Amino acid sequence: MAHDSIVITDNRTNQTYTLPVKQGTIRAMDLRQIKTGPDDFGLMTYDPAFMNTASCRSSVTFIDGERGILRYRGYPIEVLAEHCTFLEVAYLLLFGELPTESELKNWVHEITHHTMLHETTKKFMEGFRHEAHPMAMLVSTIAALSTVYPQAREIHDAENRLLQIKRLIGKMPSIAAMSYRHSLGFPYVYPDNDLTYTENFMNMLWKMVEPKYVANPVLARALDILFILHADHEQNCSANVMRSVGSSQADPYLSTAAAAAALSGPLHGGANEEVLKMLDEIGSKENVPAYVKKVKEGHGKLMGFGHRVYKNYDPRAKIIKWTAEQVFEVTGRNRRLDIALELERIALEDEYFIQRKLYPNVDFYSGIIYQAMGFRPEMFTVLFAIPRTAGWLAQWQELLNDSDQKIARPRQIYTGHDVREFVPMTKRASMEVNAG
Ligand code: CMC
Repeated sequence: MAHDSIVITDNRTNQTYTLPVKQGTIRAMDLRQIKTGPDDFGLMTYDPAFMNTASCRSSVTFIDGERGILRYRGYPIEVLAEHCTFLEVAYLLLFGELPTESELKNWVHEITHHTMLHETTKKFMEGFRHEAHPMAMLVSTIAALSTVYPQAREIHDAENRLLQIKRLIGKMPSIAAMSYRHSLGFPYVYPDNDLTYTENFMNMLWKMVEPKYVANPVLARALDILFILHADHEQNCSANVMRSVGSSQADPYLSTAAAAAALSGPLHGGANEEVLKMLDEIGSKENVPAYVKKVKEGHGKLMGFGHRVYKNYDPRAKIIKWTAEQVFEVTGRNRRLDIALELERIALEDEYFIQRKLYPNVDFYSGIIYQAMGFRPEMFTVLFAIPRTAGWLAQWQELLNDSDQKIARPRQIYTGHDVREFVPMTKRASMEVNAG
């Protein structure tokens, strides 16, 4: 019997099956042979929310949730945050290796020269109500780019794919800044090609009447570090959407819009906005114990706490805490930091959180920095989406080059009626359907 295998005995039939085990995994399709008879469809697994199912093989990002480790293409996140720029990391995610000096120069030049948006996109943006949520504007506008670049549908052409990747990474800050200026009623600012990726983003957000925008270097670097930390996170909810929509061979703009829509939810990238609301609701350090008690009694969650994969301190949260100190030296301390630190202290000593291994995640401190830098909470998830675009696209490329992949199509366990006789209108009884 092969050493790397598992033996399953089906007590319904007394039959025994030997299934190969590779990389700690059995193939779900190998279970299909386990049947009670010729009419049986075969055994399936039931795994809502993919709690224990690997949907792909990937070499992009590694996470060890028990030990609090995160690596992109093998490089620890701490090292990348210390030594790289976001565009350097985006290159690493997409191409698998860190760029040489000339490769990076070329890459930065290419991305910089794709930051401009088509004028029709500006008109599209003008159609939104001024109080529209910036994340909803971002999602819709990314999808609208599909109308500007119809050739993006040629997803099997590697050169064409790369062009759309550069456009998406280049244009995300431009769309994000436009959505922000739109909500304030300010005129849009065009990109400035002399500036770095984050400086240019700050320019498009905050330039007023000055002839040339000059970003504070500490804040620009802090934003760059935050972008590095958010660039990818393996098979999270939005990456899974990117792969799922991408598996239908939809174009990258539509797939990215779908991924960004998934990111907007409060349990995913929308959590950073919720953290700020929560800290405001708590109001002061003294109210923290009462708030934690309420959460333990089942009234809401501690937003910015807990993670499906990390059962230890999220390594990104540690770097963000350090970055916060640099930012506060420039902007002054955000008073919410004291509430957050107290919340973390109390929660980490509490049996409820210890038992469930709930630690601060990436969203716990990021909002506090963003707010100190001058962003409104509605923009926080948009700030997450900009760098995550690089990760989504790396996952998408990998999917398209993976011969194991097909259109994503899960199975279900049907729990509805068996075949029924049709009931004519005159004989139907009202059901008092309740919308709740
Ligand atoms: N506050 C209080 N209790 C919590 C929290 C929390 N933040 N998170 C999980 N729990 C409890 C949960 O009620 C459950 O308790 P019990 O076993 O008594 O029923 C237990 O911990 C396990 O939680 P779960 O809901 O089964 O865990 P999950 O892996 O399905 O959910 C999560 C992960 C991130 C959705 C969840 O922890 C959560 O809702 N956190 C708050 C939202 C948040 O911060 N999201 C950002 C995640 S990180 C960035 C990103 O992905 O975008």
